Amino acid sequence: MTEILSATEEHIARAADSLRAGRLVSFPTETVYGLGGNALDDHAVAAIYAAKNRPDFNPLIVHVPDLQTAARYVHVSDAAKLLAGRFWPGPLTLILPRRADCRLSLLLSAGLDTVAIRIPNHPVARALLEASGLPLAGPSANPSGRISPTTAQHVAEGLGGKIDYVLDGGPCKVGVESSVLDLSGTQPVLLRPGAVLAEEIAAVLGVPVATEQNAVDHGARKSPGQLSSHYAPHLPVRLNATGAAPDEILIGFGPAAPAGAQNLSPSGDLLEAAANLFAFLRAADRPGHRGIAIMPIPATGLGIAINDRLRRAAAPR
Ligand code: TXA
Ligand code: MG
Repeated sequence: MTEILSATEEHIARAADSLRAGRLVSFPTETVYGLGGNALDDHAVAAIYAAKNRPDFNPLIVHVPDLQTAARYVHVSDAAKLLAGRFWPGPLTLILPRRADCRLSLLLSAGLDTVAIRIPNHPVARALLEASGLPLAGPSANPSGRISPTTAQHVAEGLGGKIDYVLDGGPCKVGVESSVLDLSGTQPVLLRPGAVLAEEIAAVLGVPVATEQNAVDHGARKSPGQLSSHYAPHLPVRLNATGAAPDEILIGFGPAAPAGAQNLSPSGDLLEAAANLFAFLRAADRPGHRGIAIMPIPATGLGIAINDRLRRAAAPR
């Protein structure tokens, strides 16, 4: 049985007990809901893979409360410190080399010598990290390959029965997963676009940020989890639509979208569109239609992350 708990102090303490007992709890972050388990415990990490039906070659993000805790597990380079100072806590995940004395479960690195680490900026996530005293492995709390959850109800729909609790922190503000930046190689590589933009990272570091496609060691450092089909609704998704066929449901963006269409942001605000994206895809993904048609979203700012998720949602399965 999975219980949705309001995020009171008492409920956070109960969820923390559950985590310390090796069980799984979903918690809100500013990006999407995470599926939390004790990152020091191989059994808990194995249970996360099982609950999500996640392929075991796909490593997990570890959530920690502060930089000091991160430094127990990974080598924090000068570049990492600069970025941490500017963007943590917040929607940025750093891939850093695992320390030789790192006690994190080996399973969560899926055989890599690096760890993905993030300090979240949601008060409930932070309270849970503090109450549990644990580093928390936390992939998005959805069955593998499906749409990430931005409300407690989404989590219960996808993982109900497989976890003890969902801490309800309301809808996630950012709405798309964190930017994932690989700092383990010769140049910084953005493996997944998110709310922290490549140009913001480059400005802080004073060096250009590569993408997986144009990295010098392209191929050597792929994001294992960035499968081309991901975030997939059950219905087929058609991108750059100018309108809907009679049996399609239309998701629009901006003032030009036809009246009556679902609109990610009537005013054309990319922050609002990102926050609405996954909830709109879920709402559109119901029987009675042949597919979901989505109007173009500008590929600037957070629109880069939105278009990345939409391309994967529309990819052949
Ligand atoms: O916003 C987020 O990052 C959310 C919240 C809950 O924190 N979490 C999340 O986790 O999106 P997940 O597991 O769904 O996505 C993690 C991504 C995957 O694409 C995974 O392959 C990649 O990070 N990743 C994890 N560890 C890695 C590593 N050591 N090297 C390269 N990529 C890694
Ligand atoms: Mg995910």
